[in-house]
Amino acid sequence: MVCLGNICRSPLAEGILKSKLPQDKFIVDSAGTSNYHMGSPPDKRSVAVARKYGLDISNLKGRQFSVADFDAFDYIYVMDESNYNNVISLARNKQDKEKVKFILNDVYPNQNYNVPDPYYGGDHGFENVYKMLDEACSIIAKSLI
Ligand code: 4NP
Repeated sequence: MVCLGNICRSPLAEGILKSKLPQDKFIVDSAGTSNYHMGSPPDKRSVAVARKYGLDISNLKGRQFSVADFDAFDYIYVMDESNYNNVISLARNKQDKEKVKFILNDVYPNQNYNVPDPYYGGDHGFENVYKMLDEACSIIAKSLI
């Protein structure tokens, strides 16, 4: 799960998808394309909306996406077009590029919709992001199990 800061959207996506998959069979992780928040916990508004829906993401720590993630993971879900372009720019080959997917394309195929960045908005933005990610992760989990 990849966003810009790895403190708002992608930690939520990580927590939500983890909650829908058997823990012993899948590794779900998140990262940011930037190095702005390395080592930081998720934004308190993401922690709060996750807690509201029964998930604890408070122990996650921000890290930056790296080329090694193309080897470590089968699927790389990005939140928006900017994340997509940043991740694709690190891809070494066609196989790397094919791993990169807009997370909302599992809900709205081929539309390349963005999960809006809630960082500069209010709590409502985080609730909205949670619902979008929950819907997408339900479909992703069903397709993987
Ligand atoms: P995220 O949100 O990409 O969903 O984690 C952001 C968090 C921090 C910043 C931008 C977006 N920032 O500019 O610090």
